[in-house]
Amino acid sequence: MSERKLITAALPYANGPVHIGHLAGVYIPADVYARFQRRMGRDVAFICGSDEHGIPITIRAKKEGVTPQDIVDKYHHVIKKSFEDLGISFDEYSRTTSPKHYEVSQNFFKTLYNKGKFTEEVSEQYYDEQAGEFLADRYIVGTCPNCGNENAYGDQCEKCGSTLSPSELIDPRSMLSGNVPVLKETKNWYLPLNEYEGFLNDWIIKGHEHDWKSNVYGQVKSWLADGLKPRAMTRDLNWGVPVPLPDADGKVLYVWFDAPIGYISFTQEWAEKNGKNWKDYWQSEDSDLIHFIGKDNIVFHCIIFPSMLKAHGDYILPENVPAFEFLNLENDKISTSRNWAVWAHEYVQDFPEQQDALRYALLSSAPETKDNNFTWKDFQTKNNSELVGILGNFINRVAVLTHKYYGGQVADGKINEEALQEIHKAATEIRESLEKFEFRNALTSLMNLARYGNQYLQIKEPWKTIKTDEQATADSLYTAAQISVALAQMCEPFMPFSSEKLLATFGVPKMNWQNIETAEVYIGANHQIGEAQLLFSKIEDAAIEAQIEKLEKTKKENSLALNTSDEETGFLPQPQKEEISFDDFTKIDLRTATILEAEKVKKADKLLKFTVDTGVDVRTVVSGVAESFTPEECIGKQVMILMNLAPRKIRGIESQGMLLLTTKPDGKLSFVTPDDKVCNGVEIG
Ligand code: 2FM
Ligand code: ZN
Repeated sequence: MSERKLITAALPYANGPVHIGHLAGVYIPADVYARFQRRMGRDVAFICGSDEHGIPITIRAKKEGVTPQDIVDKYHHVIKKSFEDLGISFDEYSRTTSPKHYEVSQNFFKTLYNKGKFTEEVSEQYYDEQAGEFLADRYIVGTCPNCGNENAYGDQCEKCGSTLSPSELIDPRSMLSGNVPVLKETKNWYLPLNEYEGFLNDWIIKGHEHDWKSNVYGQVKSWLADGLKPRAMTRDLNWGVPVPLPDADGKVLYVWFDAPIGYISFTQEWAEKNGKNWKDYWQSEDSDLIHFIGKDNIVFHCIIFPSMLKAHGDYILPENVPAFEFLNLENDKISTSRNWAVWAHEYVQDFPEQQDALRYALLSSAPETKDNNFTWKDFQTKNNSELVGILGNFINRVAVLTHKYYGGQVADGKINEEALQEIHKAATEIRESLEKFEFRNALTSLMNLARYGNQYLQIKEPWKTIKTDEQATADSLYTAAQISVALAQMCEPFMPFSSEKLLATFGVPKMNWQNIETAEVYIGANHQIGEAQLLFSKIEDAAIEAQIEKLEKTKKENSLALNTSDEETGFLPQPQKEEISFDDFTKIDLRTATILEAEKVKKADKLLKFTVDTGVDVRTVVSGVAESFTPEECIGKQVMILMNLAPRKIRGIESQGMLLLTTKPDGKLSFVTPDDKVCNGVEIG
């Protein structure tokens, strides 16, 4: 273990604000760890910044009809401010559109290129002819070959977690137009990950079985068992860091190539501003690199980025990659598009003085080993019963009694040895837990000390002994003051705002963690302390109900929403088509009709032949719905027909009109039908 800690937190995409899922699964644990390491006296660089390239940004820009730059400018500042407001103590929070990052990531690419680490491959990539663009993996959806999820992305199936390439998808379709994309040749630079299997095997599988979290280790193991494939490190896109080669017009670095290099460029930015040498953190064996991430980022931080670092040759590898599972909200998956989230910036607005309450609640239900759940009721209980009822109550009692009996001077007594042992035990347990990334256990040890403090006072009853045995009161209040100050010191990584207030009230400086574990005295006898301050305040039912109502409103809006544009369905509505005149519209003859007969068309998997009663005649229509319906399911259905479409021969059958169809979120077709049964031949318009 090294005395220098380079701690990174996954770069959030600047395509929206951060929510409690991000906070619980990456940023708050990372901050606790960084703060703890600083208390251990270690040389810490805690690095993060906005991930401003990548498809989530361009998707958002397209949805909002603005440029990607507009999107990242807006959200970078919103995210940065939320982190500051919640006490996330990054040493550097930068952004991947910074000039330094362009320089560092392009240089990294050139080094690998000059060392011959890439293979150059001309491949066929999906291209949307209507949009005139090559399609990023995220812009292609289709069926996952592993689990059958019909809305898997071209790079990953979010249902089964497997990484994919677009060519593996069954029935791919473009999210830009909904059309089936075509394959077109293009040249890109690949990192042959297969050549790094041996290295990854030795380094992770043999070297980190016991110190890496089992979810991380297990995922890496299964990828390696499946075998790795070369992966393109450049993309045909117009938003990103340009590929620094002469023959690479219109190509940018793959976002998962440039983003983790952000950790390096931001460290350089920080070092330049603070008179440090960035190489001490990135290129010295005296430094431990720790990546805090969510579980969806494991492959990038444990396989791709380490292979890039290895290929480069000058960098250290991560010492550990503590990845968290996901947090649900009120038993439902957090979703940006469904607005099912507690947004960090809104929390800060609604609870301006209660940052630590959120930190505490999220840490105590941090999804360390499995997905976990946040509920507002639980949040209220944690605040009111634990923070107010146990921690706040204990410290407040000590301060009040000290003022009452000793004019605010710490009692001149003797420490209770058992209590001192309890303090040392808590400090040691917290250190040991945090070193293993067990944040919930660490928090439990902290709260157990507060519980012990309350019991201690209950047993010693200084308010009684003051009348009978003054020395006993002095001893117990002196001891209680030691416990209080120790708690004030130890809660800093978890609840920095409260710790600062408490240390100010007690008038003592911050202590190094090793001292907390061994000290005999935390605050001297006769030391004057300030008036007891309200440390935590009760959260009333009304505040919680308002939050629950807000979520219920969201739920209602979602169920009423006609527009299903959604990251989960993989659907992006197309822009409106060119305007037509009213006269154009009146030319269209749309009517209600009923399907009388339906049969499969021979040698055509997708077609069904229908006999329909249009009210004016009975006619034949051929329709490409055989993958969505059986013939039997169609018979008797009332449908809408475009009557006056010129007849066309399809597989030798004359089709006289067109039935109106729409596509469901699962990709299957559905007939457009009238709400209630009507006569056949009724005009629509
Ligand atoms: O999943 C995400 O939100 C990514 N923006 C994380 C990037 S982490 C790093 F590699 F930059
Ligand atoms: Zn799948």
